[in-house]
Amino acid sequence: MKTGLSIEDCVARLKRYHWTFKRLHQIFIARLTAEPVYELKMAFSLHAHWCAEHVATLAKRIGEMREPPLGLEVVPNKHLDLVFEEILCAPTTGELLTGIYEKVIPALNSALAKHIRETNPLADAPSVRVCRFALVEVEDMLNYGQKAVPCIVDAATREKMKPWLQLLDECLKAAGDLDGSTQPVKKDIAPIYSAKPFVYDNVPKRDERFPDPYNMGVNAEVFLYDESMPPDAKVLMMFYKRLREIDVPEMMASIVFQTPGKPWDYYRDMTRQLWDEARHAMMGEVGFASVGVNWPRNVMINFTWSLGLNTQLTPMERHGVLYFIEQGLMPKTGKRYEWEVGLKSHHPLCALFQDYDWADEVLHARIGRDWYLKHFKTAAEGVEYGDKCWSKVLMGWKQWRDEGLTQHRNWWPDCYRDACRNAGVEPDPQVLNFNTTYEEVRADLKNISASA
Ligand SMILES: [Fe+2]
Ligand SMILES: [Fe+2]
Ligand SMILES: [Fe+2]
Repeated sequence: MKTGLSIEDCVARLKRYHWTFKRLHQIFIARLTAEPVYELKMAFSLHAHWCAEHVATLAKRIGEMREPPLGLEVVPNKHLDLVFEEILCAPTTGELLTGIYEKVIPALNSALAKHIRETNPLADAPSVRVCRFALVEVEDMLNYGQKAVPCIVDAATREKMKPWLQLLDECLKAAGDLDGSTQPVKKDIAPIYSAKPFVYDNVPKRDERFPDPYNMGVNAEVFLYDESMPPDAKVLMMFYKRLREIDVPEMMASIVFQTPGKPWDYYRDMTRQLWDEARHAMMGEVGFASVGVNWPRNVMINFTWSLGLNTQLTPMERHGVLYFIEQGLMPKTGKRYEWEVGLKSHHPLCALFQDYDWADEVLHARIGRDWYLKHFKTAAEGVEYGDKCWSKVLMGWKQWRDEGLTQHRNWWPDCYRDACRNAGVEPDPQVLNFNTTYEEVRADLKNISASA
């Protein structure tokens, strides 16, 4: 029988949560590619996916209470928006993480909890449900941040960022809190980091576990499709291919960030796929851990694909390459083959990962049809365009070697020996001698599958 938020107040608050998730999504996507720390790249992929989902759910709920236009593109409060601008432009990872996980996420967490407390649970039951489900993932983000921030930010760094964190607090106060539920503290606030517009960096960066990022010295596909090679060794090549998929979120983030003005379902679908690709990379990492391979030392995961696409192609051309590669994964030689190799091996975990990798690819093909292929008159035209764009990308195999960026070291024997030692078996000399690079045989799907 208690009264609670009017529709007016309820919509106003939901719009602010909506805006918050939307801007957080953009920040994660904008910072993912150039963020070197592997775990952060993966976390940004997941958290961007969650945010994209909640944006959609909140928009739907707002649409139940109001006639269009819903005004979801309108900045709900300039001080609130300044918080996101500042975080987007934060010059260091430490500031980025602190801003997101110690300021915005706790404020969002409190706002959602407050909404549930203050609204009438009967009258506003649908919003309560939306807030409750959002809270589950916001709390996960909060917990993640509590562990992640101290790994990056020490006491001295924290001291240095004090004035900036104060600015974020002042912005929130001037906004009447994230949800606008308190009396705004009137104040003119001058931006610090966002005084200059944000400069997007789409050049992928990696941390010390990727010491040889130009290495194209081991041709995984040639090995994988060699009938004479044993399935157990092929498992290692598949783990390599999975972990190498870390380059797909790096590339997709650049498409998403540099393609404005689409319906939200586009960003939602693309971000779901981006997170899937991050999951595939982690499947590779877990796979290597399960067979005792020290991958940072004995497997050289490169970034040549995301680097090439991001720096040489337009967002639409990148999408074309992605679609071209993924549609090539569906025939007999693609994902089904990888799954079958997994089944033939003595690694049930590999078979399981390939099973899901394949299923995800079916979803990705649908996403490609919905958002890429519809720009073309026929499917064949879209495939041909992607093929052409992929052919345009220059992979400087010899040039990188001549410039001293890599020696294309053949890391395969070390990786294979690691796994053999762990399994207590003698290395097979034929497997050990594998030595085919990407110099002559390009990672091209016309012949065999490459990335994705
Ligand atoms: Fe995959
Ligand atoms: Fe995919
Ligand atoms: Fe993939």
